[in-house]
Amino acid sequence: MQANAANSGSQRRTEGLRFPENFLWGGAVAANQAEGGWKEGGKGPSIVDAMQGGIVGGNFRPEIEPGEYYASHDAIDFYHRYKEDIAYFAEMGMKCFRTSIAWSRIFPSGDEEEPNEEGLRFYDELFDELLKHGIEPVITLSHFEIPLNLIVKYEGWKNRKLIAFFERYAKTVLSRYGGKVKYWMHFNEINHFHTIPLAAGGIVVGEDEHKLPTIYQASHHVFVAAALAVKWCHELVPGGMMGAMLSLSPIYPHTCHPDDVFESYELRRRSLFYSDVMLRGSYPAYARRIWDEHGITVEMQPGDLELIAAHTSDYLGFSYYRSSTHRAGMKILGNTGGILGADNPYLEKTPWGWPIDPKGFRYVCNELSDRYQKPLFVVENGYGAADEIREDGTIADPERVDYLNKHLIQLAEAIKDGCEVLGYTWWGPIDIVSAGTGEMKKRYGFVYVDKHNDGSGTLERRRKNSFYAYQEIIGTNGQVLFE
Ligand code: BG6
Repeated sequence: MQANAANSGSQRRTEGLRFPENFLWGGAVAANQAEGGWKEGGKGPSIVDAMQGGIVGGNFRPEIEPGEYYASHDAIDFYHRYKEDIAYFAEMGMKCFRTSIAWSRIFPSGDEEEPNEEGLRFYDELFDELLKHGIEPVITLSHFEIPLNLIVKYEGWKNRKLIAFFERYAKTVLSRYGGKVKYWMHFNEINHFHTIPLAAGGIVVGEDEHKLPTIYQASHHVFVAAALAVKWCHELVPGGMMGAMLSLSPIYPHTCHPDDVFESYELRRRSLFYSDVMLRGSYPAYARRIWDEHGITVEMQPGDLELIAAHTSDYLGFSYYRSSTHRAGMKILGNTGGILGADNPYLEKTPWGWPIDPKGFRYVCNELSDRYQKPLFVVENGYGAADEIREDGTIADPERVDYLNKHLIQLAEAIKDGCEVLGYTWWGPIDIVSAGTGEMKKRYGFVYVDKHNDGSGTLERRRKNSFYAYQEIIGTNGQVLFE
């Protein structure tokens, strides 16, 4: 068996592949992984500001210890250096840039009546700078950044009160930026409620606590909040679109044994459950059996289901990094006990052990288009590696370019298959803090940032070789990939 045989470029048929006119080529970051300035401009702490070591296996303590290192507190200082960084994005030719609004810059504690004007002004200036360069902002309302107070005082999305707090925040920013931002998403990778309930939902669940009732109740609150965000977007933003955003790396059965096949399907539904509700507007039939078998009663208020039905998301944003493989007997609901699943012998891996699977990208685009018949937006795809500056000052990252090229060819195949894809934003066009591990060493950027795991570094920016590769791809609307 040969690694990556399934994805080899040897029989490439590239005739007729093309990206649409006005395809949104871009890059994506999240406020907490890039901005820093965690206490500046009146910002309050968010959940990641109280986390060390990343959101997957890291350590969360609500009391932030002075003098200790927290990666999000300074991050790459995008808060002060965004003009320089946007100039790099413009030089690459990017048509759009995805970031999130840090909720706690706008409502520092999450439950105030009035927003923080200084925080609002920051994003006004950021969006103006993007628009000045002809770059369309693509904005996520909540990307693992719940105000810390909403977790300490209200236990996160477990509490129905968060719907009203989120609605106030969403209305505030939608009306303020409605003339500047057309593409919105409500919740980043909300299907991670099962694997990282704290970062995704601000839900503290102990190791032994039966997690599922809490997860499904909190999910219901999020569905109502998402529907309200769609409603207000349509009322307040002329021509605005509010998308859902999920992590949708596909899941393959480990073997063709029917148990592996059906359990993989059930595991897949654990994620598609979120897009099923938010894009189709109703709970899927299979939810009833899960709730019955786990003794779950989801409390709903009159009008909730009608709201969810009336305000479905306009498009499906998703992240794609890799595929995973499932063997019967591995856990399906709650945690998986390891995010990578069973080993796939056909695929090579990134230095962080993530299987590289370009064809899986085409597969998932088709799966999602067939299921929802709504536009897709690839809002995260990227390659994390430990880049180093060579003696001559250059940074060679051929593996990143290879990953980029192969994934884009498969995306073009998916478009030829009939998938409607609004755009593609590479994850981390500039090096940022890793969400999962809190490291700087795991770099995704086309632009290098001199910052290290212990917080040291000059923050100087420098183009990697991949910078020029992406520039050429955008400059030819992808045609260079097919030559
Ligand atoms: C996605 C998140 O899950 O994956 C991002 O939306 C994150 O915030 C990205 O950074 C890559 O993961 P990591 O752990 O390599 O940063």
